[in-house]
This record gives sequence, structure tokens and C-alpha cells, in this order.
Amino acid sequence: MTAARTYTGTPGNLAFLARRLKKGEIVAVPTETVYGLAGDATSARACMRIFKAKGRPTDDPLIVHIASLKDLERVAVPNPGALLLARAFWPGPLTLVLPKTGAVPDLATAGLPSVAVRMPSHPLFRKLIRLAGVPLAAPSANPFGYVSPTSAAHVAKHLGRRIRYILDGGSSSIGLESTIVDMRNPRRPVLLRPGAVTKDEIERVLGVRVARRRKSPEGASVAPGQMARHYSPRTPVRLHASLTFTEARHGSSSAAWLFVGKPAALGPIPANVYWLDPLGDLRRAARRLFSVLRELDEGKFSAIHVERPSGKGIAEALLDRLVRAASR
Ligand code: TXA
Ligand code: MG
Repeated sequence: MTAARTYTGTPGNLAFLARRLKKGEIVAVPTETVYGLAGDATSARACMRIFKAKGRPTDDPLIVHIASLKDLERVAVPNPGALLLARAFWPGPLTLVLPKTGAVPDLATAGLPSVAVRMPSHPLFRKLIRLAGVPLAAPSANPFGYVSPTSAAHVAKHLGRRIRYILDGGSSSIGLESTIVDMRNPRRPVLLRPGAVTKDEIERVLGVRVARRRKSPEGASVAPGQMARHYSPRTPVRLHASLTFTEARHGSSSAAWLFVGKPAALGPIPANVYWLDPLGDLRRAARRLFSVLRELDEGKFSAIHVERPSGKGIAEALLDRLVRAASR
């Protein structure tokens, strides 16, 4: 296959890409969380193309993206709790797991009777869903197991030879995949994946406690497709409960040392010391995490040593991705 072409979000390009989607082809799309690899969620053929292009096993279900609340009932069977969350956080980085309808092929949900649904906020992706006129299944647009992409260039770099169309919508503003909540039983919601919408925020809206997903001994989740080895750079990643600048300066010079905020240093900071955000702002750190991991992965370092983020909310999501990146 020839290399993928990258399209800007002009009305003409959007109409063209929507026609490709209606024909069952797949298109890499920008979202506020990470870039996705989209296809008609109601077409088993389109879903199969997504799995093939990613090299993703078909037992790992896809997320279905909709552009309006009316479309929810087309793919899922909502309940009052799920609708509360949808009204509070959509469009945005929250995915709800609900019983599926017959419109969604079994392949999209890996044979599960439930479906994961999200209404994204990225304006170009929303326009594309509307123009395509069908809900779009889209996993993150990375080869299976690698770090998720947060720019069109990331997608082109790793999937460029396996797909034909990439829609460029700039850098993802959130930078981490959506929060996933299992809402099949609205009285017992379960957080399957932490993200920018936090557990506290969800509990406040629902007025009930949200359980965390159960973990296997290795820290891997029991949710489908949530195995630990996910989001991993090729370079080994080591997480440190506490990492000081002194340790980094005296540590291996062939390794990269990554801090959440800029370390306080009296002298010059060595070139192999990095930080996610100068002030350690966690939302901004999250936005940059995947692109920094990709950059460091290309830097031929022997290892990437990372300071463990602490705290609740978005820190939980950052930590979750780092734990996965560090698991081999
Ligand atoms: O932010 C996001 O959610 C991005 C953008 C593109 O929207 N998408 C994304 O998709 O992260 P993906 O395929 O990389 O992760 C989807 C995960 C699956 O691995 C699985 O763990 C969970 O969603 N999932 C999907 N359907 C499910 C279901 N029916 N029950 C439980 N978990 C499900
Ligand atoms: Mg993914």
C-alpha cells in the first residue's frame, strides 16, 4: 500500500473522507483524547479493517463514537444514570459501557453483549461523524501495544503504510485516552480506565460510589483488552516512587530521566533530563506524556526513568499509563 495522505479539515476534505467511511473504508481521525482509527461501527467489514490495520486481536473491543445524544439509542441501551453522565460530560473524554443493540456487529464488541460509547468533543471529528451519518468505531490509531498517538504525524509514522487517510486536527488537547465507566448496572458503576473525567466528578454526578476495576497480581486489569502491556515504548520504562534531580545527575548518562515538573537545580540541567511541564501542572503534563515518550523512545536511550506522579484525579490517569508503559 502507498503511504497515507494527510488531509486538513476543509469542508471538501471532510465530505470526501465521509464518503470513504460510508464505503466501509477507514480514516485516522483527531479527537481531544488521542487520535483514533475510525470506521463505520455498523459494518463488520469496516471493523475488521480497523483490527487488521492496527494488528489488534479481535478479542479487544472497539469504542463507538456518536455525534448526538439521539444516536446513543441506535447503538446502546441507556439507563437514567448513564444519561446523567452523558448530559454532564458529553461531548468529552468519557466512555460509557452499556448493553448493545443489534446495530452493532459482534466483531466491534469482541462478541460482548455490551458496547463502549463516547461522544467526542473535537469539532472536526464531530463533523465527520455527522457527515458519515453512521456511528464510528475507533480505537486509538497506534499499532497494537504501542503508545497512543496525539498528532497526525504520530499516526503517519507508525500506521502510514497500513492506512490511506489521515485527518489532521492538530495536537490532542487532553492527550490521554478517555475515562471508561461500566454503567450496565447504574447502581454499581465500575471505573474500567481512569482518564481526564475523574472518579470524583463521576461520583458527584451519580451520587453513588464508583468501584475501581479489579486488578490481577501484575497490575493488569481483568477488563477485556486491558492487558498491562499497552502503551509501551520499545525502550524499557522504569517508574520511581521518588526521583530526585541528584539521582538523575549521578545516574546512568545513557538513560533518559523524566520528571513531571522541572526539577529545581542550582547548576545546569544535563541534556538527558526531561520534564513534562515546567510547573508540574498535571493536565498539561498529561497532554505531553505520549509525545514525550515517543520522542524519548526515538532517542536511543538505554532506559527511561520516570518520576511517579502522585495525587488523585488526572494524576491517577497519568500513573495508569505510566504503569502500563513500564510493564513488560
Ligand atoms: O479516548 C479514547 O477512548 C480513544 C479515542 C480514539 O476515542 N479510544 C481508545 O480506544 O482509547 P482503544 O481501543 O484504544 O481502547 C478501548 C478500550 C478497549 O481496550 C477495552 O478495554 C474497552 O475500551 N472497551 C471497549 N468496549 C468494551 C466493553 N464492551 N466492555 C468493557 N470494555 C470495553
Ligand atoms: Mg488503545
